[in-house]
Amino acid sequence: ESGAQKTPLTLAFESLRGARTDAVVVPEGYTAQVLVPWGTPLDQQGMAWNPEQEMTAEAQAHSVGMHHDGMHAFSLDEQNASRDFLLALNNEYIDQKALWAPRGGPTNADTGQRPADEVRTEINAHGVTIVRVRKHSDGTWSHVPGDAHNRRFTSATPMALAGPVAGSEYVSTPYSPDGTRTRGTNNNCANGYTPWGTYLTCEENWPEVFVNTGERHADDARLGLPAERGRYGWETAAGNASERDSEFARFDVTPRGDGPRDDYRNETRTFGYIVEIDPYDGQSQAVKRTAMGRFRHEGCWPGKLVAGEPVVFYSGHDSRNEYIYKFVSDAKWDPADANRPGEDYDRLAIGAKYMDRGTLYAARFDADGGGEWLPLTPEAKTPEGRTLASALGLDADDRAGVIVHTCSAADVMGATPMDRPEWGTVDPVSGEVYMTLTNNSDRTAENTEPTYTNGGDSIEAVPAGYATAPTDAANPRPRNEGGQVIRWRESAHSPTDFEWEIFVFGAAADDTVNLSGLTEANQFASPDGLWYDERGDGQGILWIQTDNGYAGVAEYTNNQVLAVVPSSVSRGNNDASVISADDQTQLKRFAIGPNDCEVTGIFATPDKTALFINIQHPGNWPADPAVAIQDATRTASGSVRPRAATVVIQKADGGQVGV
Ligand code: FEO
Ligand code: CA
Ligand code: CA
Ligand code: CA
Repeated sequence: ESGAQKTPLTLAFESLRGARTDAVVVPEGYTAQVLVPWGTPLDQQGMAWNPEQEMTAEAQAHSVGMHHDGMHAFSLDEQNASRDFLLALNNEYIDQKALWAPRGGPTNADTGQRPADEVRTEINAHGVTIVRVRKHSDGTWSHVPGDAHNRRFTSATPMALAGPVAGSEYVSTPYSPDGTRTRGTNNNCANGYTPWGTYLTCEENWPEVFVNTGERHADDARLGLPAERGRYGWETAAGNASERDSEFARFDVTPRGDGPRDDYRNETRTFGYIVEIDPYDGQSQAVKRTAMGRFRHEGCWPGKLVAGEPVVFYSGHDSRNEYIYKFVSDAKWDPADANRPGEDYDRLAIGAKYMDRGTLYAARFDADGGGEWLPLTPEAKTPEGRTLASALGLDADDRAGVIVHTCSAADVMGATPMDRPEWGTVDPVSGEVYMTLTNNSDRTAENTEPTYTNGGDSIEAVPAGYATAPTDAANPRPRNEGGQVIRWRESAHSPTDFEWEIFVFGAAADDTVNLSGLTEANQFASPDGLWYDERGDGQGILWIQTDNGYAGVAEYTNNQVLAVVPSSVSRGNNDASVISADDQTQLKRFAIGPNDCEVTGIFATPDKTALFINIQHPGNWPADPAVAIQDATRTASGSVRPRAATVVIQKADGGQVGV
């Protein structure tokens, strides 16, 4: 530490009053611009947007996908990193009503056979968009149509499997009998990125597009694989032909043949992973990194990077009473592997080095503020003193089996069921990790016996996932509607110990459980997106985004972006959280989304003059032509065909955002 005095970082905007409008609301002196809304053509094979026109499978495969979520920027050269870069963007799921508006809605959405053309289009609206974007001299942004980097990864794009599950019997399918390949990535929610310049897209609600009408794998039942019909009925497009078309039949994973090479029983085991993409190489293929666990991954965030130390990634399973995970690479970080923006070389080989071999841990949060990372390896010893492999009924060296059954492995090791882990973020200087726990309707009062989701588990000795769990120190509120942001710091003395505290509890200002003393100026619920925005001197802004359904806050404001400078607040002796009534003015409401949306996805340009966010599932937006500068959204009849989009927030004077 130098003796020089830090200038305290302060938020220089007025906290916004709540708003419930069809616009993105930003503080005075700021602008908000819509960028790359759903359907924006990436090249000549896309088609110019017209709200009256039907989307086709071919056009959708060459246009920005639907329902923007996590995203990250990849600079092409350091000099222009804040005005010209590749935007990698998740397209999490679809709004069928908006997608099929010109047809009056989807065909046979809930019963009967879906038409193949609709299903192909819906499949192509999911996944990931890579698109080059640029800032113009007037301060506005646009994408670069036809740029060689522009591309889509959809729920049909061929991808490789890597890590312990790849090549195992668990993922043998008719498409890839040797279990090394699969098709598509699905329901990509939050994201991550690597120090070597690749994008991580994370498979969250993937079980819902599949169906299994027969006997389900125990892990699939727990993950929520439908038993009657997939979320969009994609499997029905295969029809009843005896020689079923695997393009759609693969979504029906019911065992029908004699083994995994005869049917798609193992298809769901090729999903639930962190997927690595090299945005710089337009020909590269996406790789599913199975060593990082199989569950409903919200996202994946790199820990503090130290030369000569392992590379660490944090991840959360967004379901009620599921777990927080950490992956620690076997390989030690070599700064020579750091990204060289715009250069042409094999980044995925570097990804293999750090992400295919390592140890996955699940977190146990103890009442005394300590915690332990529990290794999920076949040889790990359970609290009962058995090996994890034997407790799971697996062969002693079955690493693939442990990964396929990640959730059950974490149960057996005694991980703490959490209030729906969503986004994480890391202060790259202190190494402190923040994670949102969005809410949990199945958190019960203290001392309530938990109930379990799948008592008929076919894997011996596995207690199976909690349907309900009683309150504990890290998840202290029953029927938790506000959610909380938790923070932890790794121990300097032990690689498997950490210390944790609650950073802030979401709540309505007049709630009896408003444990952080929120007021009208900063009440929020269901924190989801999160980003620590490093601003130098070991200080930064923690941005918190919401995806709220709790009326106590929703009747006051739409979903929002809040900001706080963590170094400006500290926990008092008797405070329930770091943010307390004394600090309430430090947490400010910075932006508010339009009606019906959630606000998600976040980063700032390196010069901090532009904050990028995503507006997902808006109801009637973008409708204002002054905001939707790219093209119209209103139809001739005047109704709005809503489009998820990225929004660029900038200061009118070109200064840094937030300060
Ligand atoms: Fe897709 Fe957990 O939000
Ligand atoms: Ca989310
Ligand atoms: Ca959410
Ligand atoms: Ca405090």
